[in-house]
Amino acid sequence: MSLLNPLPIASEMLPLNQSLATVAYLVAAVLFILSLAGLSHQTSAKRGNLLGIVGMLLAVGATVIGVMGGGRLMMAAAIVPAVLIGARLAARLSMDHLPQLVAILHSFVGLAAVLVGLSSHIDPGINVPAGEMLIHKIEIYVGVFIGALTFTGSIVAFLKLAELIGGRALTLPGRHVINVLLLVACVGLGIWYCRVDDVAAITPLLIMTAISSLIGVHMVMAIGGADMPVVVSMLNSYSGWAAAAAGFMLKNHLLIVTGALVGSSGAILSYIMCAAMNRSFLSVILGGFGTGSGGAAAVVEGTTKEFSVEDTIAMLEEAQSIVIVPGYGMAVAQAQHSLAEVVRTLLKRNKEVRFAIHPVAGRLPGHMNVLLAEANVPYDIVLEMDEINEDMSDTDAILVIGANDIVNPAALDDPNSPIAGMPVIEVWTAKTCVVMKRGMATGYAGVGNPLFFKDNTYMLFGDAKQNIDAILKGLQR
Ligand code: TAP
Repeated sequence: MSLLNPLPIASEMLPLNQSLATVAYLVAAVLFILSLAGLSHQTSAKRGNLLGIVGMLLAVGATVIGVMGGGRLMMAAAIVPAVLIGARLAARLSMDHLPQLVAILHSFVGLAAVLVGLSSHIDPGINVPAGEMLIHKIEIYVGVFIGALTFTGSIVAFLKLAELIGGRALTLPGRHVINVLLLVACVGLGIWYCRVDDVAAITPLLIMTAISSLIGVHMVMAIGGADMPVVVSMLNSYSGWAAAAAGFMLKNHLLIVTGALVGSSGAILSYIMCAAMNRSFLSVILGGFGTGSGGAAAVVEGTTKEFSVEDTIAMLEEAQSIVIVPGYGMAVAQAQHSLAEVVRTLLKRNKEVRFAIHPVAGRLPGHMNVLLAEANVPYDIVLEMDEINEDMSDTDAILVIGANDIVNPAALDDPNSPIAGMPVIEVWTAKTCVVMKRGMATGYAGVGNPLFFKDNTYMLFGDAKQNIDAILKGLQR
């Protein structure tokens, strides 16, 4: 059997259809790889997205036409309402709700793996030779384990990102011991599951599903706000492995390939996020294990100085080099379009204007890049933190728009801060820094920010969109 040969679900399948499905699966797999390659850069991201859509349509079409021997009506009854609901939700969704949408979509993949696993246990739907039964059972068990953990973990991530529950880490006493005990219980149940017949095996399978769901909740609850970027990419990775596990259960090789692509790209992203935050992956997923000095963070207090819109316009008109640091508040305010207009106006006046993007700005990997691309900001002036941080001290004016944690000097100065060690954009080294936010609220990590009290920092309070609109009006006068 070839690598991508889809096994028949129904025995009356036509061989020609199966061959066509094999070719379609192969093409879809290549399209998914090209899609990932395209998504790795802003200039090719649209093309990457399109290739992914074509690949997915091909994969679903080949499965329905070439692989399924019947049950198309039931398939349509599932797909049509799902497509309508998904399209309606996506059309209504504003960009600032994207992070929680991604989290909830990960949970669907997890749930799908659990349902596929349980139904595969009840009725494999494929011909499993007696000699391969143990492997099939292990596939089901592992698939359900990863799926349940991804499902509940993603729901907690959704609730945290939507701010329906607090972002603080839940640190139960003896939580590492609890985790180890739960894992040991799952291994023990796995042995029980593999050793008994199918009817008796449903009991350990269901108990493990409950325990694994609990692990998912506990794991994400134990991760504090500042470490959430790693959770988002980690759950992305888990959702891929859950899909791959479903592929093994169904003997569908395209699902295995697709799941592995998502799983491994999510794992790479988690690694990049950890590097960006100067955290070890293990310490993050174990809920802060081995991090922090245990002391109390320094109290942040002082007097702020305020800028008006007019002061900010005057600063921008005087400055030759300007750096803009966007954060989550820009996404909330939907200020990117007006901001792009401000940038175009400043560029026309021959000023050097650049963006500094922190890897964990916003609530999604690449969140700021997506918003700026949406507003047609030229890619060549959007720089990563590492590319621009050392230019900060030579910059005349910095506009921090709705960013907080990513420009917090406490990350470098206070070893007891929850974000200690995280590289930040060193905006305070510039000549003048204006911070635009509505009040003195903390950022997602819930940490006070000494930046607001620095000598060369001025606060421009108010909604970022309203203030940017006013600045634009002033600049165009
Ligand atoms: P935050 O530290 O969350 O700060 C955002 C600031 O925006 C808030 O302090 C808020 O202050 C301000 N704001 C909110 N609405 C605004 C509006 N309409 N107009 C103006 N300002 C507004 O954001 P950040 O600096 O981008 O840092 C990201 C944080 O999220 C990090 O802690 C990161 O670890 C975490 N996180 C990131 C991700 C990913 S993958 N990027 C995922 C999960 C969590 P006011 O309320 O006073 O206005």
